[in-house]
Amino acid sequence: MAIFSCENNIFVLETKNTQYVLGIDKNGYNRHIHWGRKCPVSDFLSTDIWDENSNHTELDMAKQEYTVFGGTMYRESDLKVQFPDGCREIELEFVDAKIGSNKLTVTFKDKVYSLEIALKYSVNDDDDIITRWAEIKNSGTDTIFIDRMFSAELTLPSVEPYTFKNTNGSWGGEFVETESQLQGGALVFDSKRGTSGHNQSPYFIAHQNATETSGDVYFGTLAYSGNFKVLCSRDLFYTTRISLGLNDHDFKYALKGNETFITPKVFCGYSWGLGEMSRQMNRFAINNVLPKQFNDKILPVLYNSWEATEFDVNCEHQTALAKLASEMGVELFVMDDGWFGERNNDCAGLGDWFVNETKFPNGIDELIKNVNDLGMDFGLWFEPEMVNPDSDLFRKHPEWAYHYDTRTAHTLRHQLVLNMTRKDVRDYIFERMDTMLTDHNIKYIKWDMNRPFSETGAENLEIPQELWYRHTQAVYDIVDRLKEKHPDVAIESCASGGGRSDYGALLHFDQVWTSDNTDSVDRMMIQKWFTYLRPTKVMRAWVTDVNWYNTPTTLDFRFNIAMQGSLGVGGNLTKYSKEDLEIGKRNVALYKEIRHLVQFGDLYRILEAQKDEILFNLYVAEDKSEAVAFIASNGTGFMKKAIPLKFQGLDDDKIYSLTVDGKEYKKSGAYLKNVGIPSTIRGMNYNRIIKIKAE
Ligand code: DGJ
Repeated sequence: MAIFSCENNIFVLETKNTQYVLGIDKNGYNRHIHWGRKCPVSDFLSTDIWDENSNHTELDMAKQEYTVFGGTMYRESDLKVQFPDGCREIELEFVDAKIGSNKLTVTFKDKVYSLEIALKYSVNDDDDIITRWAEIKNSGTDTIFIDRMFSAELTLPSVEPYTFKNTNGSWGGEFVETESQLQGGALVFDSKRGTSGHNQSPYFIAHQNATETSGDVYFGTLAYSGNFKVLCSRDLFYTTRISLGLNDHDFKYALKGNETFITPKVFCGYSWGLGEMSRQMNRFAINNVLPKQFNDKILPVLYNSWEATEFDVNCEHQTALAKLASEMGVELFVMDDGWFGERNNDCAGLGDWFVNETKFPNGIDELIKNVNDLGMDFGLWFEPEMVNPDSDLFRKHPEWAYHYDTRTAHTLRHQLVLNMTRKDVRDYIFERMDTMLTDHNIKYIKWDMNRPFSETGAENLEIPQELWYRHTQAVYDIVDRLKEKHPDVAIESCASGGGRSDYGALLHFDQVWTSDNTDSVDRMMIQKWFTYLRPTKVMRAWVTDVNWYNTPTTLDFRFNIAMQGSLGVGGNLTKYSKEDLEIGKRNVALYKEIRHLVQFGDLYRILEAQKDEILFNLYVAEDKSEAVAFIASNGTGFMKKAIPLKFQGLDDDKIYSLTVDGKEYKKSGAYLKNVGIPSTIRGMNYNRIIKIKAE
């Protein structure tokens, strides 16, 4: 991998299979030159940057790496500021470019004011992902006010319109895919809710008729968990651009003298087909994004108490669940909501992170000991950023919630959002969680977050609009500090399900609660959309008793779907029959045999539940020595489907053994891919798990 510096200020970044080229033109403007398949570097060496003069202003037409507000530029900008004297225009000049090991920094400064912009790029030796961000510095003494500060601008190569995949999700319906073709004007995907949220996603996936296995796909995801904006546009010259960054909605930031603001990162790439995109990001996330404590560790099978007991937790019942869970093979027992304060329902108790003595008269250690004696680790639920008005914390510190004295503080789920930009609030949360982790043998935290912000008064801040950014940073900061002090504790990000499952969260949290919708039929699609850009191993998937939104499914079917992520169990095991407990035990044991493939393998989505009526996913080991296939269908129409199972992603030349419907096969990877194994998939609740092993 290399970053080539060319004499005429053209910079060529090379990844494993792709190339990204930028340069500085004769006016000192930053220019985007190429992103996509490789061309000879020498061609770029002799490239003169096109001088695009016409009736239309050069600046307006230019493909830029980072567009600043001002001059004869009428497009959207990536940076808009107000200088101390009131000037709102930026005029940059090129300063220099520095090349480090697989890193490039291109620096500009304003011609008059003390503003510096460093555009940062980094690449790795073994993938095709480029990381981009910007560092905005005030090198003077007077404050510069920033109204918009995106992380990066990307330009796509084709003059034909692109189709953008994003999401239109909700609680219980996370990641529902949308496709919008952008012919002209703009498409905006954003969140204004305080977190990245359930609705739209902080990424772009731009393609032209791409399928799982073919077509150019350009993608990029913003590593940020707060209000974000992804702004895609296509201009009259057919240039498609995408800017990603902090949302400028209700945004202002005071960049003090000598301060540098480092924007969130953007991870972006190019792939041939959507499947390749997912595999690239899966591996990149495992190797370069996820926190180092657990990124390369197999995640344990967990039990979570929420759906079984909700708020009604006590030592006896939790122990009964724990006993059955451990017999099933579960390795980590997580007690969800209800263990603290006066938390008997969702109306009270949030903020009072002290063990409820009525529910646990002998303290929580009694339950933890029971769980540990059963051979499992213990985990606990928190919702640190929240407070119920009916709580000791709120009675003592009503000023700790975001509020305006003149406005009604609207509760949602009977709760308010704590002002995490206050140090005393952050100290309290850290102290409570740290004390619980220090005093008790807790190895796992589920960090929940169950409402969007409102009435965001923060009188402690000089610039109240900074709260959106500062709140998100405060969450990261507390998570990081807890992890530093308790490195053996894994932390799960939850926000009413998958409402905070962006790449910002993945830089700090070890895994994600995917969705409160645990219906296995819906999960077939939710999990597909989740894994478009996110790594499979962080996707927590529980087998529960939820079985009524769609056609009822069998327990084996539900295990089949949940085993395609990091498996959890969440049903009320005390109500299970002996046979059901045995089915659970059998499946957990099977999962332990194949989970290294699911959690670390390359995912090939071969058939899809909604479109094909059959879900057929294959997870292949990186060295292609083994694989596991999951097939599930909840009903096939018209007496279908007698189809060959065609396995992608295997080594053409290796011979693999597998058993399909009781029949043993020994075939080459080439045969399995091109000819396939005959199978008849019919009826409700069809589910198979096929292990494939090279000789
Ligand atoms: C919302 C989460 O998504 C659920 O899994 C559960 O933890 C509840 N909150 C508890 O209140």
